[in-house]
Amino acid sequence: MSDNLSTSLKTRKILLSGVKPTGKPHIGNYFGAMKRFVELQDVYESYIFIADLHAITTVQNREELVNNTINVVLDYLAIGLDPKKVCIYKQSDVPQVTELAWIFNCLTTVPYLMRAHAYKDAVANGKEPNVGLFDYPLLMAADILIQDADVVPVGQDQKQHVEIARDTAEKFNRIFGPAKDGASETFKLPEPLILEDVATVPGLDGRKMSKSYGNTISLFATDDDIEKVVMNIVTDSSGEHPENVYAIHALLKDKELLDNLYKENKGKYKILKEMLIDDLQDFIRPIREKRQKLEKDKDTVLEVLREGGRVARERVEKKMEIVRDKVGLKLS
Ligand code: ADP
Ligand code: TRP
Repeated sequence: MSDNLSTSLKTRKILLSGVKPTGKPHIGNYFGAMKRFVELQDVYESYIFIADLHAITTVQNREELVNNTINVVLDYLAIGLDPKKVCIYKQSDVPQVTELAWIFNCLTTVPYLMRAHAYKDAVANGKEPNVGLFDYPLLMAADILIQDADVVPVGQDQKQHVEIARDTAEKFNRIFGPAKDGASETFKLPEPLILEDVATVPGLDGRKMSKSYGNTISLFATDDDIEKVVMNIVTDSSGEHPENVYAIHALLKDKELLDNLYKENKGKYKILKEMLIDDLQDFIRPIREKRQKLEKDKDTVLEVLREGGRVARERVEKKMEIVRDKVGLKLS
């Protein structure tokens, strides 16, 4: 960690996002979302946390949660998220977040939360949602508002949750007014930064690459795995070139160069696939090797989280002092 992470996080706009620790990432996750965090770390003062408290709304297995939490940190460090630039922490290491979520619970009505998608979907699918799932958006509002986030990069599916955070900030500001310290409002209104679907990566079968379709290429695949999966890509043999082979290849290579190669090898599907294999192997190898190195040094991962947690706690405690004062939980 830097001689001091808190001093390197300075006056830029604040970015915050949470990542749920779930399973192994694939190249669709990388090009659609993960890569953006790495690009944005140089633009914003960034806070990225592992949403383990959100995860326990569904994952209720100690081993799985512990492993997934460590794994997601390894994944992000391997792709280049730099703990000297970004505060990386574990949500549950910052208990002020749950404290704030409780305060928000008391300002929010049940019918309002019943309109949230995740809850509505669960009910529509005949599930009996737990209270945690019902309350999910307010925990997320606390994550965001406690850090004074300006921008929240999320997928389209999370946009409503950022809107709920904005509503909640407005409601708190309306009821309790501005902070004593001269700030105009207690909470800032965050903006969603929607991770656009420009790079919807197709899977092996041409549908969107997704864990739930089992059509993925792992971001940490071995050279052998890459060869096997690429050879298994289902291609439509009627076209000039196999569309989904091309679409995956386009993520890795300059368009002009790629178009020339595909022109030269029109109709030669096997050769085109072999070229994709080479490029995918070259792309994945360094990330996979970096991850393997980090895996052997678990203490580094734990230290990143410890230091990130320390910085995050120190920061949000200042905010919570203001909030407790506004609400009347602080007596002097
Ligand atoms: P999955 O569909 O594999 O379960 P998630 O829903 O967990 O993936 O997605 C995590 C992030 O990765 C989201 O921000 C999502 O937009 C992005 N993502 C997932 N699949 C793709 C894809 N095929 N192309 C582009 N982005 C994707
Ligand atoms: N709910 C987000 C998801 O399912 C994860 C998350 C939790 C989050 N808290 C957040 C994202 C705060 C952005 C900001 O992916």
